[in-house]
Amino acid sequence: MRIIKCKDYNEVSEVAAKIVAAQITVKPNCVLGLPTGSTPVKMYKNLIKMYNRGEISFKEVITFNLDEYYPISRDNEQSYFYFMHDTFFNYIDINREKNVNILNGEADNVQEECRRYEEAISKAGGIDLQVLGIGQNGHIGFNEPADYLESNTHVTALTQSTIKANSRFFNDIEDVPKQALTTGIWTILKSKKIIILASGKAKAKAVKELLSGKITTQNPSTMLNVHNDVTLIVDEEALE
Ligand code: PGA
Repeated sequence: MRIIKCKDYNEVSEVAAKIVAAQITVKPNCVLGLPTGSTPVKMYKNLIKMYNRGEISFKEVITFNLDEYYPISRDNEQSYFYFMHDTFFNYIDINREKNVNILNGEADNVQEECRRYEEAISKAGGIDLQVLGIGQNGHIGFNEPADYLESNTHVTALTQSTIKANSRFFNDIEDVPKQALTTGIWTILKSKKIIILASGKAKAKAVKELLSGKITTQNPSTMLNVHNDVTLIVDEEALE
């Protein structure tokens, strides 16, 4: 795993945006895997700036988001559908109808939705660059610590730790959905290239485990140690 050590969150966000922009420059019709959460917000802002300066275009870019709460409607401000449009897609020239893919948090048949999503990624030719955040508990997407991890896109229960961490976005912890749809560990590992962003003290423990080189299902990010093109972009606080 390559490690890019950054001073702070701003630098993490700059480096990440530059890597995404470089991917779009070498392959304008690339397939990006995208995360939500607080960490990538500034990376998205930097990409919007680059777009506004005419340095990059998302016209042909295809995106697949990592996960979505379940059940949740897309116009709920806490849905990742809403977040991605409000934070990023509404400000760039991506084809939102055709090229943006987000798991449907309102699907009647979740198994079918997960199958459809996995197939759509394959049909698009697989993910060229997957951008990841890391949970305080080491989750990637909503692949939570457990005795067994799922390979493919699936429905999952959120852990108490994640419900607590994400309750900061909701009025009440009771409002946090208890389940989510998420791409699986193999869906993520099939990506040609992966970058993982970590910023702040709260991530230090998970990052330390990731960098130990040991693999444990109790910290799903450690599975990235079997991939041959992963770059960790980390700031001083997240590096113990
Ligand atoms: P955060 O979430 O960026 O909001 O800390 C990261 C994650 O849970 O993957």
